[in-house]
Amino acid sequence: MEDVRTDYLFYQSRKKLPFVDYAEGLYIYDTSGKEYLDGCSSAINCNIGHGCTRILQAIAEQSRRTFFAYRTQFENEPAHRLATRLAELAAPGLNRSFFVSSGSEAVEAAMKLARQYFYNKGERSRYQFISRTPSYHGSTLGALSLTSSAQLEVPFRPMLMTHPKIPSPYCYRCPFNEKKYPACGLKCAWYLERVIREQGPDNICAFVMEPVGGASTGAIVAPDEYFKVIQSICKKYGVLLILDEVMTGFGRTGAMFAYEHWDIDVDILVMSKGMSSGYYPMGGILVKESLIEEMLDKGTFAHGHTLAGNPMGCAVSLEVLNVVIEQQLAQNAVKMGKLLKTGLLKLKTQYEIIGDVRGKGLLMAIELVRDRKTKEPFDPELNVNEMLADHAFAGGLIIYPRRPINGLSGDHVMIAPPLTAKRADIEKLLALLDRALAQTTIQLGPLSYSGFNA
Ligand SMILES: Cc1ncc(COP(=O)(O)O)c(C=O)c1O
Repeated sequence: MEDVRTDYLFYQSRKKLPFVDYAEGLYIYDTSGKEYLDGCSSAINCNIGHGCTRILQAIAEQSRRTFFAYRTQFENEPAHRLATRLAELAAPGLNRSFFVSSGSEAVEAAMKLARQYFYNKGERSRYQFISRTPSYHGSTLGALSLTSSAQLEVPFRPMLMTHPKIPSPYCYRCPFNEKKYPACGLKCAWYLERVIREQGPDNICAFVMEPVGGASTGAIVAPDEYFKVIQSICKKYGVLLILDEVMTGFGRTGAMFAYEHWDIDVDILVMSKGMSSGYYPMGGILVKESLIEEMLDKGTFAHGHTLAGNPMGCAVSLEVLNVVIEQQLAQNAVKMGKLLKTGLLKLKTQYEIIGDVRGKGLLMAIELVRDRKTKEPFDPELNVNEMLADHAFAGGLIIYPRRPINGLSGDHVMIAPPLTAKRADIEKLLALLDRALAQTTIQLGPLSYSGFNA
């Protein structure tokens, strides 16, 4: 292939990456012919895998009609069909959709909608949002102001709105240094009430959380009771509950949406990633009918983007949704998730550097520690999360490295393959991860207690 690499294109760093050639199913191929098992669905978004012919066909069919028509000038069929499909799938009453083109845009839409709802109602002091720390809700300034992951938000803090945060239910490193659940009394959930009271309930619009932690925490799963407590506090103070299901939606955790596991009464559900599985930029919010009707009775929703709800994006998402349902991918996520978790727990018995294995369905993570007994993290300068991901990448496995202690320290990697994974794919993933863990342990040598003791 002609060498087209140029310095004219920049992203985050100067790191040189291989050129992608094509992708099929769970595998991505670079232009040298090397194969990579996509062990994290790229950015935990390619839920239905790569090169799905049904989607290619849906794109071809829609392209013969139109890619684009502007929503203030024309209705479009795919948008209505997608909204109808989502309404059929979601909890009764959670049936009004608004589509955008990314997860961050969808979070912005959720924030502005919550505010507009209270504004139209005359409750104009309600403009504050409460979210969790650590968390990730996107890179635009509104979504970033809900995010708590130091590396990503610290440089921009002077430009961000100051929304209060409560600690995430990070049980492996309890933010209150409490005994294990249930002895802890779920202090992290009750903290929400304390912050609402401190801020004044009349000033709070909504509480925003990821039902299963995403990249910022490494797939933390709260005890079941956590959600009941959060729900009761929100209801008590008239605070809306916004679930950011950008990463957890569309089958990822073993249900179409993660709220189903705990029967959470959601006011606004935020979607993206798996919604179009990487085939087209898409995002959206699914909102309670009662909320929308009340808002529109008293005014409008002053929000939109040029590409919001465009026919092609909606046609793609509609077909992705059909694939998730017809191929029973949420059910497969439960089955393959169990296999993956068993395999990861087995690796934990082999590698002392694995401190914790957690997650739900095919949204899993392992946290790496210097000392398993004390949970002491590695020196952040060692970049152990990237060390492991680099060894994996060199060996043909893609995983997703991040830092769980507010983005500053600690090491975890997310393991979240496409929901189309079969037993053989999970076994191959585990074998490749095993090799990468062995190489990381050797490279760390005396820097990890496991290496020291070996
Ligand atoms: C939970 C969550 N919310 C929002 C976003 C932002 O989505 P996007 O990167 O499409 O803007 C992400 C992205 O990783 C996410 O994981």
